[in-house]
Amino acid sequence: MFRSVARSAAGKHLLRRGYATESVPDRKVAVLGAAGGIGQPLALLMKLNPLVSRLALYDIANTPGVAADVNHVNTRSEVAGYVGEDQLKQALEGCDVVIIPAGVPRKPGMTRDDLFNINAGIVKGLCAAIAKYCPNALVNMISNPVNSTVPIAAEVFKKAGTYDEKKLFGVTTLDVVRAKTFYAGKAKANVADVNVPVVGGHAGITILPLFSQATPKANLPEEDIKALTKRTQDGGTEVVEAKAGKGSATLSMAYAGAIFADACLKGLNGVPDVVECSFVQSTVTELPFFASKVRLGKNGVEEVMGLGPLSDYEQAVTSVAIGVFTLAASSIGFAVVNRIAIP
Ligand code: 2OP
Repeated sequence: MFRSVARSAAGKHLLRRGYATESVPDRKVAVLGAAGGIGQPLALLMKLNPLVSRLALYDIANTPGVAADVNHVNTRSEVAGYVGEDQLKQALEGCDVVIIPAGVPRKPGMTRDDLFNINAGIVKGLCAAIAKYCPNALVNMISNPVNSTVPIAAEVFKKAGTYDEKKLFGVTTLDVVRAKTFYAGKAKANVADVNVPVVGGHAGITILPLFSQATPKANLPEEDIKALTKRTQDGGTEVVEAKAGKGSATLSMAYAGAIFADACLKGLNGVPDVVECSFVQSTVTELPFFASKVRLGKNGVEEVMGLGPLSDYEQAVTSVAIGVFTLAASSIGFAVVNRIAIP
């Protein structure tokens, strides 16, 4: 998944790629919620990433143990654990990327929106601290409901005067990961070669996999496309039901979060043509936030890319999703203003 880094005699970090080496800058990454179900495997995967030089693991409990454990892995980064609000400043200062999986997961029968009351408050507090201690960091939001926690984060940053729409991302990579896996199975393609853009949002019918743009092309019948779309939209629920009350996707979510953070780090480091789907501030539709392909660069979002040509079916499901978003947006707006007082 990641290339290896060695320290040269001159003390520079060198990234090994075949026979060539190139120097990589120091990068600090924080995981907020690092002792949780997503946070722990995500901490391990970020420890494996040679682009990370310092890894800050923050949670309200248990992070010293997680940090001590992960720190024994013989890779480049130094890991530190931080516990409780008093240590949030130390965890965040100097961060280039902050990944937020903090919050509670779903139980069977719950939608991601049912997590709003608890997770919105958690995200609000964490984002207020980000605005204070590392306002220039790229924020990768994993906490659900992503369709709401990203606009909430934007409001917190606006209020603090630090909002930069290029630096706030809802992580929708797990939808792409699922779409690739399910499509590869149906198309009998090598999953490593498969690409599927997923646009819209990160909840049920707002998740819009664009199988008409999937590569390699497979010309699957319409009923297969509909079934793949539904399975991708319900992927999170499939895991919640299989775990039967013991939580939601953690391992695949951590994998997806690590892929997206790696893409952000590559963009920051000036690697060209880094493109991932993400839920960002957007003018691609009439909605203020929408997931689409995003080109990542030295300042975060370099370009929010359009949806490309949609099939008739995709056009129809996109219109339905936009309707759902519009309805939800009015209640989120209400919640942001009335229930979740922004500091
Ligand atoms: C999922 O899609 C946890 O939201 C995450 O499973």
